[in-house]
Amino acid sequence: MTAPANTKNIRFKIKRQDGPGKASYWQTFDVPYKPNLNVISCLQYIAEHPVTVAGEKSTPVVWDCNCLEEVCGACTMVINGKVRQSCSALLDELLKETPGGMVTLEPMTKFPVVRDLWVDRSRMFNALKTIQAWVPIDGTHDLGEGPKESAENQDVRYSLSRCMTCGCCLEACPQFLLGNQFIGAQAISQARYFNLHGTGKVLADQRLDAMMGPGGITDCGNAQNCVKVCPKEIPLTESIAAIGRQATVHAVKRFFNGPPRK
Ligand code: SF4
Ligand code: SF4
Ligand code: FES
Repeated sequence: MTAPANTKNIRFKIKRQDGPGKASYWQTFDVPYKPNLNVISCLQYIAEHPVTVAGEKSTPVVWDCNCLEEVCGACTMVINGKVRQSCSALLDELLKETPGGMVTLEPMTKFPVVRDLWVDRSRMFNALKTIQAWVPIDGTHDLGEGPKESAENQDVRYSLSRCMTCGCCLEACPQFLLGNQFIGAQAISQARYFNLHGTGKVLADQRLDAMMGPGGITDCGNAQNCVKVCPKEIPLTESIAAIGRQATVHAVKRFFNGPPRK
């Protein structure tokens, strides 16, 4: 079924891929305009009416999402050439960017495509494991009060805590490529976040060892694309500079104290 006649249609050009490693192709769909739609509601319409503008029956376009309020990062895709979240991308705003009325949707290019607009973001979560992005407090017994934290420290850590592992910073980074090892701005910033935590900093040396290893901070070319696209306005270049300084001091300590104990 196509959109009802006499309704203004918005045309969506969507890059599709039927599975991992398969060839990609484009399809166009019309979605009847209504005010206040977001991209996900348009994709839901297409899922219900998978018929291309040429009238050919197709399959529902696949995408990923969860929170629908720009918190989980799962719905990130390239919309009209700009990486962003499809839940918070409003059609009325997109139409101002493209007066012709066409909206283009593509999967992120720096992660393997699972299907259509859904990509596999596990590389980001594996990077968080590599840098031990957690506070190591095991057990259920009362550990007493944690270390006190200054208001300034809280401010910085709050700004870093808003990362939703969306991948925008990695999509924009010229050093982060499919198949290479670079850990990327997101994990570097999370290393700073946990190294600033009163208890989390007990793992600071291990995090800095990871940062100095293959794919670590020295792979950052300082192009600063990452900070420009972060939807949470996380100060990524400050994080890169801070971890760079910590890694330098750590390298000197390692030089005098020897390699990490296994
Ligand atoms: S500063 Fe440049 S190279 Fe480094 S993480 Fe950001 S975008 Fe990538
Ligand atoms: S640092 Fe920003 S752009 Fe990068 S993953 Fe986190 S929220 Fe997304
Ligand atoms: S669905 Fe969670 S950020 Fe969009």
